[in-house]
Amino acid sequence: MIITPRKVREVAADRLPALLRAMPKAELHIHIEGSLEPELIFALARRNGVTIPYASVEELRAAYAFSNLQSFLDIYYAGASVLLKEQDFHDMAWAYLERAAADNVLRTEIFFDPQTHTERGVPMKTVVDGLHRACVDAKAKLGIDAELILCFLRHLSEEDAFATLEQAMPHLDRIIGVGLDSSELGHPPEKFARVFARCRELGLHLVAHAGEEGPPAYVWSALDVLKVERIDHGVQSAKDPALMRRLAEDRIPLTVCPLSNLKLCVFPDLGQHNLRTLLDAGLVATVNSDDPAYFGGYMNQNFTETFAATGLTAQHAWQLAANSFEGSFVEEAAKRAYVDRLNAVFDTFA
Ligand code: ADE
Ligand code: ZN
Repeated sequence: MIITPRKVREVAADRLPALLRAMPKAELHIHIEGSLEPELIFALARRNGVTIPYASVEELRAAYAFSNLQSFLDIYYAGASVLLKEQDFHDMAWAYLERAAADNVLRTEIFFDPQTHTERGVPMKTVVDGLHRACVDAKAKLGIDAELILCFLRHLSEEDAFATLEQAMPHLDRIIGVGLDSSELGHPPEKFARVFARCRELGLHLVAHAGEEGPPAYVWSALDVLKVERIDHGVQSAKDPALMRRLAEDRIPLTVCPLSNLKLCVFPDLGQHNLRTLLDAGLVATVNSDDPAYFGGYMNQNFTETFAATGLTAQHAWQLAANSFEGSFVEEAAKRAYVDRLNAVFDTFA
């Protein structure tokens, strides 16, 4: 469903941050393990008797200085090692969902990396039970719609991904789709052609990280070989005019993560981020937080900092929010209802 563009009134620069915070939005790119704040890492380490190689929350936070994706992933996987019990997965997801709801996120489609946990002996069931319970609680207590997307780690083999899918089979009623994440360079999408084909047969939604650090060729193969419905990041697509036309014509959403791109040195500063270029080319670009505990901000921080740095306007804000609902995996009636709520908030700012 294409959401008909709406012309919105200009909003004074000093009121734009309030509009960005108040507007309803969907988050389509959040790794739940990347929402694990240092305070919670230390609390879970104590609770579970796990030792971590940092003396304090401050020392851990000070280590969050990244030069590229891999330098982040090394510390991200180390942080996840404190997660052992169903309650741990619940508490992590609950903390994120409270923050998302406070940012007026109405819908969130949450990535999780089961191989990070099953590889340490944590059963798939423990992971899914804890995350899913938080999603159910959040609907009841916070009014936020949350669903789970299982991501395969691309630095591991396709055989490993198949084994993970097998472990997930009893839980597929609580997983809406699969994705592909971790170290991009050297691990092109086509490495996972067979497992994605199987997931497609199973009726799962398909997404993949592509064009974060990797070349436009990885975006092409995510589309043409994996047959994904959305591209996570995809910012490198701007280097390939034919790819930009394809993404615009097929209305393939890009789940862009500006603060992540800044912290992982994909762009030298936020002012040089290409979000405006993507929007101006008619792409269904969205704003997301990726790993908010590591990159310095949840959804609203991503919006306010990016708008301040790039000069995007209220019209762009409406488009980004509408794109997030269009790109979400909900039925058309639900998309319409979300956009009605979006329009109502814009009306109060007119
Ligand atoms: N896993 C968590 N965050 C990621 C990112 N930004 N890119 C790839 N894999 C990830
Ligand atoms: Zn990501």
